[in-house]
Amino acid sequence: MEFVEGKIAEEKVLGGGLVFPKTFIPPPPGPNEGSEMRSLVELIRERREWLSEVLVQHSAILFRGFGVASPEEFGRVVEAFGWEEMPYFGAISRTKMAAKRVYTANEAPLHQPIFFHHEMSSVKEFPSKIFFFCAQPSPQGGETSILPSHILLEKMEDLVPEFVSKLQRIGYVFQKKMPKQNETNTVICKTWRWLFQTDDEVEAQKRAKEKLGCSFVRFNEDGSAEIVYGPLNPIKEFGEKRVWFHHLVDRNEGDTAHSFGDGTPIPRSALDAYRTIVSENCVDIKWQKGDVLLVDNFCAQHGRRAGDAPRVVLVSICK
Ligand SMILES: [Fe+2]
Repeated sequence: MEFVEGKIAEEKVLGGGLVFPKTFIPPPPGPNEGSEMRSLVELIRERREWLSEVLVQHSAILFRGFGVASPEEFGRVVEAFGWEEMPYFGAISRTKMAAKRVYTANEAPLHQPIFFHHEMSSVKEFPSKIFFFCAQPSPQGGETSILPSHILLEKMEDLVPEFVSKLQRIGYVFQKKMPKQNETNTVICKTWRWLFQTDDEVEAQKRAKEKLGCSFVRFNEDGSAEIVYGPLNPIKEFGEKRVWFHHLVDRNEGDTAHSFGDGTPIPRSALDAYRTIVSENCVDIKWQKGDVLLVDNFCAQHGRRAGDAPRVVLVSICK
């Protein structure tokens, strides 16, 4: 039994004629199957090796129309692929468990967009795949947007080649500001005490280096802190793909800050080029209830458009 190729209006065609994302819809029932639709779980089990190859090629796959109806069923879809579960660590945004292997996506207020990033990219061990499941699409907006990171790199090298080579030479530094108390209305809403599960600054510094791979934590008198990373090379290689892995532009203005590795500011022209490339090459997935989106977290970034409530999108990550 084969998956049937689907198409969504918003998909893009990348170099080599690869569509992004690849979309699959259910196959028609076989002659002995009556009108009962075969479950996505069954189909994945039969074709999971082939699906893994499709994912490597296309970086994202959307499964539409399979009638996935609950967080538990979504968890079984994830498990059908056979990839090892990855726990959330360093999630400085608000998520909670919805079912086995399944979490709520960032619960920051829906009017706040979340800028493009690779999941847990600032944690030493980051997931190789991220799944999204739409249990309830926003009545307006609220798309999950995805971006092929190798295209971002290619186009940055075309548009601002000197900037990219300087960045590779001296790296860049970025900071994440942790609030003085846990908040509920921001994208980054956890304190360093919550994140590192200690009140002790020395121990927190140690855990930050071990688990996050950051350079150091700056503790402020008011109880807030900055986690400082770098100098880092934002470019990584996975298999045959070279990708822009560490995002250059803030998720939310004010939450992070970037500079070159020597402390000098990143030129506005490079940031503008980055934003332009992102907006020209991303795909806003207009969610339909029951959609499952599988994203190669090494090669594609994701973000969230502002939208209206109610919206329920769940996630699961794999090693
Ligand atoms: Fe994310």
